[in-house]
Amino acid sequence: MSILTILEFPDDRLRKKAVAVKTVDDKIKKLIKDMLETMYQAKGVGLAATQVNVHQRIIVIDLSEEKNAPLCLVNPELIEKDGIKESEEGCLSVPGFYERVKRGEHIRVKALDKEGVPFALEAHDLLAVCIQHEMDHLEGKLFVDYLSSLKRQRIKTKLEKIHRMEKSGA
Ligand code: NI
Repeated sequence: MSILTILEFPDDRLRKKAVAVKTVDDKIKKLIKDMLETMYQAKGVGLAATQVNVHQRIIVIDLSEEKNAPLCLVNPELIEKDGIKESEEGCLSVPGFYERVKRGEHIRVKALDKEGVPFALEAHDLLAVCIQHEMDHLEGKLFVDYLSSLKRQRIKTKLEKIHRMEKSGA
C-alpha cells in the first residue's frame, strides 16, 4: 500500500469533475486500499479520489472510533435526500479549518462496493453529512463553497501563505 498526496485548497485540480468508474478492477481495488491508508494516516474520516488527484468517482469513509469499519462507494448516486442538518465540517484538503455547513439530514444512496457489487445505503446525521461532503468532491466542490466569499477568501489567503512557506522550506 502507499500513502498518496492530498491536494489542498485552492489547488485547481480539486475543481475537476470526476468520471464514473467503468470496472472495479485490480487497479481500482489498489487505489481504494491506498485511499483508505492515506485517509487513516491523515486522521480523516472521509476521502474522495479527487483529493488524491484521481478523477474517478470513488469515496472512502470510516466514522468508527477504532478505524476498522471502512466504507467505500464507487459511482455513488444520491437517490433521496430530506431534512436539513447543520454541522461543523472539516476537510483534509482544507487543513485546520472547521465551519458549519447545512446538508440533507437523511439520504439514500446507491453505489458499487469495493468489489464492484451494487448496494444501497440509508444514512442519517454524521454519515449522511460525510457522504454528501465526499460526493461534492467528485463534482469539484468543496465545503468552503458554502461559506461567504469573505470567509472563503480568508481561508484561501491563509492556506496560500502556508503553502508558500512549505515551498521555501521555512
Ligand atoms: Ni473533504
